[in-house]
Amino acid sequence: MTELRFEGRVAIVTGAGGGLGRSHALMLASRGARVLVNDLGGALDGSGSSASAAQRVVEEITALGGIAVANHDSVATAVGGEAIVDAAIDAFGRVDVLINNAGILRDKAFHKMDASFIDAVVDVHLKGALFVSRPAFALMRAQGYGRIVNTSSASGLFGNFGQANYGAAKAGLAGLTRVLAIEGAGHGIKVNAIAPIALTRMTEGILGELASKVAPETVSPLVVYLANEECSVNGSVYSVAGGRIARIFVAETYGVVLAENTPEAIHARWTEIDNVDDARLHEPTSLDSETAIIAKALAEAS
Ligand code: NAI
Repeated sequence: MTELRFEGRVAIVTGAGGGLGRSHALMLASRGARVLVNDLGGALDGSGSSASAAQRVVEEITALGGIAVANHDSVATAVGGEAIVDAAIDAFGRVDVLINNAGILRDKAFHKMDASFIDAVVDVHLKGALFVSRPAFALMRAQGYGRIVNTSSASGLFGNFGQANYGAAKAGLAGLTRVLAIEGAGHGIKVNAIAPIALTRMTEGILGELASKVAPETVSPLVVYLANEECSVNGSVYSVAGGRIARIFVAETYGVVLAENTPEAIHARWTEIDNVDDARLHEPTSLDSETAIIAKALAEAS
């Protein structure tokens, strides 16, 4: 098997001062990418900042013979996003790969969650990915090549108690992945997402027996594949943990077209509407494809 390499490529990894981002940055650099290691260097809840987290990872990469520079801007503002991409251009002259990985946690049951918890988490995860992707995507579009890997989460795709802010932001990243995949498709750009589970400071003490099997290094090979020129998929989301990888997708049941469109008729046909045990499940690939499915069902029923 030919090794998937990144000679001549430049990668930005946000939140790469520790945890998953550090592992992604090290693996990309070990395969020849020049890496911008971004990290604000704050606490798990997003408070504080420190230049040392990103700098330490740059030193690790350099000691192993790789090429990297540190950047400490926050992903959470448009100015920060521009500055991160500018830093990669200043250091290396181009951007081929963007790994949107930076993240924080402020968990609380929803009825107790105040606005500051919502703003902070949505700003870093969802707006952060938008703010860094926007200038990177423009460069990728102009050069006709790019790879973006977003970091979603099972919390947003499947739900998790106490994470209304985080789950909403992470589900938003899946939506962003779909839209950018469609916008980038004609320009050599592929955009995919991961929903990882890994032992980091974010999950310390909550993974039980799984903890010993899910080091960040077990997630990075998929990220490296999705970031590589050989990546064959676009707009997909993958569950990844401990060497297990599976595709997560949005599908819809075959559905019904109601002759009598009343709440009572809907109630009566609920089992059919919800029926996932049906070989006719649809997996729409865009809003247009969903619209076509609806139009066909309505045409067939009339
Ligand atoms: P982590 O806390 O070790 O890494 C997150 C990094 O992002 C930290 O180094 C932090 O300083 C940095 N960061 C936070 N705010 C930033 C900002 N505004 N600008 C730049 N950098 C910032 O946690 P972990 O687990 O490595 O998380 C990485 C990503 O993976 C996050 O997006 C997280 O939500 C996601 N994730 C992790 C899971 C896990 O099991 N560890 C599960 C699902 C998703």
